[in-house]
Amino acid sequence: MLKRLILFLLLFLISMGAESLIQNLPGRTTTSLNGIWNYIVDPYENGYYNYRYTPFDDYADPSKSGGYFANQKPVNPWDRVEYDFELSETINVPGDWNSQKEKLYYYEGTIWYKKSFDYIREAADNRVFVHFGAANYQADVYLNGHKLGMHKGGFTPFNYEITDLLKTHDNFLIVKVDNKRKKDEVPTVNTDWWNFGGLTRDVQIVEVPETFVKDYFVQLAKDSKRTLAGYIQLDGVDETNRKVELLIPELKLRKKLKTDDLGRAELNISSKRITYWSPENPKLYDVIIKSGTEEIHDQIGFRTIQTKGADILLNGESIFLKGISLHEENPLRGGRAHSMEDAHLLLGWAKELGCNYVRLAHYPHNEYMVRLADEIGMLVWEENPVYWTISWENEQTYATAQQQLSEVISRDKNRASVIIWSMANETPVSDARMDFLKKLHDFTLQQDETRLISAALEMHGEGEDGLTRKISDPFAEYVDVLSFNQYIGWYDGLPEKCDQIKWAIDQDKPVIISEFGGGALQGLHGDSLTIWTEEFQEYLYRESIEMIQRIPQLRGATPWILVDFHSPRRVLPGIQDGWNRKGLIGSNGEKKKAFYVLQNYYTNLPKHSKNK
Ligand code: GCU
Repeated sequence: MLKRLILFLLLFLISMGAESLIQNLPGRTTTSLNGIWNYIVDPYENGYYNYRYTPFDDYADPSKSGGYFANQKPVNPWDRVEYDFELSETINVPGDWNSQKEKLYYYEGTIWYKKSFDYIREAADNRVFVHFGAANYQADVYLNGHKLGMHKGGFTPFNYEITDLLKTHDNFLIVKVDNKRKKDEVPTVNTDWWNFGGLTRDVQIVEVPETFVKDYFVQLAKDSKRTLAGYIQLDGVDETNRKVELLIPELKLRKKLKTDDLGRAELNISSKRITYWSPENPKLYDVIIKSGTEEIHDQIGFRTIQTKGADILLNGESIFLKGISLHEENPLRGGRAHSMEDAHLLLGWAKELGCNYVRLAHYPHNEYMVRLADEIGMLVWEENPVYWTISWENEQTYATAQQQLSEVISRDKNRASVIIWSMANETPVSDARMDFLKKLHDFTLQQDETRLISAALEMHGEGEDGLTRKISDPFAEYVDVLSFNQYIGWYDGLPEKCDQIKWAIDQDKPVIISEFGGGALQGLHGDSLTIWTEEFQEYLYRESIEMIQRIPQLRGATPWILVDFHSPRRVLPGIQDGWNRKGLIGSNGEKKKAFYVLQNYYTNLPKHSKNK
């Protein structure tokens, strides 16, 4: 009971910390703060703590403290101020600092960002928010010397109201970003990806009416092909008993509703005219939401996604998910992907590969990826960064994991392309881990019962030499789709071992192989048993594809990985040099021979194939 009370309090405090998200920024009145920001590298967090390690935030008047967020300037000749943003170096936002500054390539610590801006509201009683697409890992945000809040989690959005702090001229927005890895955070200290720090996604000012449509959810109700369900949530002084409208002109739908005493109006509308969204026909409708003072437009697709035994049904038809995993990295820039151009590059490669599906590993990617997936017809697996050896016993760790899952569901719940929420990746089985994942599972269903739940589960071998493979992971009971990573032929024997594997997966659920593959340096050639050559990787893909097709419940695969990515774990000189080389495309953007093996497999699969 005490644990649950502690968790409730933690979740309450976290929810108090970051405000609920504003839905659909592209449909709002926004002003970009992207561009050149000043920055100060602060490894000792001298701008946050005094010499007795007391946070300047705790001072009676923080804006008069020595904190860098005060942006103090000397007035008298004798004034001592030992920092100056205007005289400090500059950096681009959005963008990680590691790939922008040679001296910050390995930096893990605090960097202070500062942006000055003028702002004139369009209407005197409008409200104004500042919205961050993400900041890795912890962001402490201040406007004009006053703290707005603190956000943890490197891959999800957050926003703060600044209406009462905003000036017409010379506002200064200062953000302390700390990307230090910590055991009890999510992810924890050990990952196989680069810890890119900074304001890695767009920063925007959002202006809204005094009472505005803060959030809404409009999707087909679970297991329904005709009923659009969800809600409209107002925020403001007049949010209760307020008239709102939902219109979908192309469906000749117009629904007038009234909000309840919490400012919320439930949606439940039937239509027999819906053209379902699919990869072949990514149909998006102009959905209009009106409150008295505003009209929000969003482009939303409608589709059903279910499982039936071992089948995954998209709009009632069995589908095979021809997928690929990818990290959020533009290899040509060598840093975090963050733009629509980056999304076109990465999803363009996936399309060329013959994919209808991508696994956005191992954390929520930027919103451009899911918006573009909606437009071009790419199904999406989104993943919470509960990766490897998380601190399962720590209530704060759970609260952080749930908060990040809440944020990605909130942001992407109206995106038809998103069909699977993944709880975790390759997490060691224990009672504490089961409790943690079951709570995440139950929370996800509360937030969104319309999508499928999965996780990269633990797999084990039985029988002589462990050649009989089963999914022994107890979390398999809770997921809709069974997924697991397997590296037979790379971490487990040579490619020829694939042929010896027997599958004994006895759960009557769909199976997606969430990872398989191996490394190759693009352009390195040799025989098929010489590791790191393209020929070895090509051989491994051929053998792996043959092997997985022997799984009767196989309904998809997302081999590891679309393109080489940075990792501090991969240090082999002349081959890895800080890159994980399992990409089908090299860090130079050039395809490897295995790309064409997978492309051939996908291209020659029947449209709505099961496995064969
Ligand atoms: C693991 C893990 C990936 C990692 C990959 C590898 O399965 O899920 O994050 O990069 O293996 O070893 O390359």
